[in-house]
Amino acid sequence: MSTPPPTIAVLISGRGSNLRTLIAAQDGYTITEVLSNKADAGGLEFARKAGIATSVYPRSNFASVAEQKAAIFSRVAELNPTFCILAGFMMIVPQDVTARHPHWIVNIHPALLPALPGLHPHARAVAERHAEHGCTVHFVDAGIDTGPIIAQAAVPLLTGDTEESLAGRVLDREHELFPWVIQKLARREIRVISGNLEYSISARTEAYERNFRLPRYD
Ligand code: GRF
Repeated sequence: MSTPPPTIAVLISGRGSNLRTLIAAQDGYTITEVLSNKADAGGLEFARKAGIATSVYPRSNFASVAEQKAAIFSRVAELNPTFCILAGFMMIVPQDVTARHPHWIVNIHPALLPALPGLHPHARAVAERHAEHGCTVHFVDAGIDTGPIIAQAAVPLLTGDTEESLAGRVLDREHELFPWVIQKLARREIRVISGNLEYSISARTEAYERNFRLPRYD
């Protein structure tokens, strides 16, 4: 009996450029639904055009943020995807969910974690004159941008960089890194064994060739 192909559910809140790259890169995994906490999230259009189911959970439909989040994550539980992907999803995941599923929710954060977690990382990188900046794909735990790092891509800061110029260069790297990580997770070339991340030789080789950083192999 053949095993069913890995599925992902993607959660968004905004323009959805990362979602768009995940849609384009659908190879080895299938996106079964795109969920948004904002009815006007631009990314929903990318999903609709690709014929992917969408569901929206606007704040005004719920008595509290807690109920809004509970509805989102109960739909994700119903979908039961291989991985739950946060692609610009601007809500904190409830702790009961992260506690139940330690290596299931995957987020992209536009900074080289553990540096610059939280909001406005590009502005802070410029203001604090960091030599380099970048993006991180990581599993989500109970903290904010604190979960186990899966892979990173760095960019140097250039003279005259602004928050916008830096964000643009980081976003280009996000669009390379994120689908690559999701494909590798789906194919089990990156996997978690007894709580530790393990990378296949080909994943390590490709990461080296594409200038991605893997936490245990640099
Ligand atoms: C990206 O920079 C991502 O790293 C962060 O939110 C932004 C979302 O952008 N978590 P988009 O909606 O994917 O274009």
